[in-house]
Amino acid sequence: MALLGFLGRFVPPFSGFVFACVLAVALQIFVFSPISPDFLPLPGPSSLASLPTNTHLQGVEKLGEGILKDPEDVCVDENGVLYTATRDGWIKRLHRDGSWENWTMLNSEALLGLTATRRGGVVVCDAEKGLIWADEDGHAKVLLSHVNGSELSFADDVIEASDGSLYFSVGSTKFGFHNWYLDVLEAKPHGQLLKFDPSSSQTSIVLDNLYFANGVALSKDEEFLIVCETWINRCLKHWLKGDEAGKTEIFVDNLPAGPDNINLAPDGSFWIALVQVRSEAWEFVHRSKAAKHLIATYPSLIKRVNGVSGKASVLHVGADGKIIKKLDDPDGKVIRFVTSAVEFEGHLYLASLNSNFIGKLPLT
Ligand SMILES: *[C@@H]1O[C@H](CO)[C@@H](O)[C@H](O)[C@H]1NC(C)=O
Ligand SMILES: *[C@@H]1O[C@H](CO)[C@@H](O)[C@H](O)[C@H]1NC(C)=O
Repeated sequence: MALLGFLGRFVPPFSGFVFACVLAVALQIFVFSPISPDFLPLPGPSSLASLPTNTHLQGVEKLGEGILKDPEDVCVDENGVLYTATRDGWIKRLHRDGSWENWTMLNSEALLGLTATRRGGVVVCDAEKGLIWADEDGHAKVLLSHVNGSELSFADDVIEASDGSLYFSVGSTKFGFHNWYLDVLEAKPHGQLLKFDPSSSQTSIVLDNLYFANGVALSKDEEFLIVCETWINRCLKHWLKGDEAGKTEIFVDNLPAGPDNINLAPDGSFWIALVQVRSEAWEFVHRSKAAKHLIATYPSLIKRVNGVSGKASVLHVGADGKIIKKLDDPDGKVIRFVTSAVEFEGHLYLASLNSNFIGKLPLT
């Protein structure tokens, strides 16, 4: 404040006040900003420019409408029972006879990806508590809450290999679930793909430095796995077996939006949900560190730049990374912000962070 008093001597009282305000705001923005931003390595032009937008996703049937709050992911167990975790902390399931059951309450607002396990029940990512296993009777147990002595935060998606190990993504090791936008603003690769071996309780790093690690899927023969990097519109392929074991390559890139969850289809291909995280306003923000600091300091501004929720797209990709087709609801008329697509018995089941149902679409 001595500095302000000193400067105040050179300016009339009123403008001194204005000056102090501007200085305070600037200090707030640049010195106390929670981020140290970089420029995001923006992907090239979309590899899918030639695929016309369509309205196929508008043909979904709505399952469980009204009783499912913002379900982010779905999975199906070996008996054909479908599970989803909702924003109000439930895991709810749909039996083959079409009835929904409020199966088990996990008391969390941060449930994300889930997968059915071979020993029964499901493992779900709780972005605040870690990996939770709900056994076949619905009894919940924390499988993993700490990694190397630090709390496991922002577990995002999980898949089980046939040997029982769990591969899971950590969206960001720096920012939490409620501060996800700080991670995209900072634009540094804080995401990881980890492996948890339940027999030894060891956790190891498979891949580090990912631009928001999101969906994880194993290939049909478990020779490789795919992890999605939402912020830079690409998915990586990491070899687990064979001559290439341990190597990582690009599976698909330059997608027209951010890949969220990815799921293996019965024929060995994959379904990827695309979320429109960026908008024209974001493109501007990504070129201005000052704008990034400003938004990070005044998070209510995020609503003005966010392009997230207005549409839905899912992408069908072969095991070789070649695009097969894209299904859209271009203006979110029936379903929007689809975050996961699972193929089961000739249908696609769609979860959405902005819907109160699971979409069911016949695949012809
Ligand atoms: C399940 O929960 C929903 C609200 O989330 C409620 O409307 C419904 O009645 C519950 N169903 C049963 C069978 O308790
Ligand atoms: C745990 O810490 C060790 C030593 O710093 C490091 O080598 C290892 O990769 C870390 N593991 C995980 C899962 O973070």
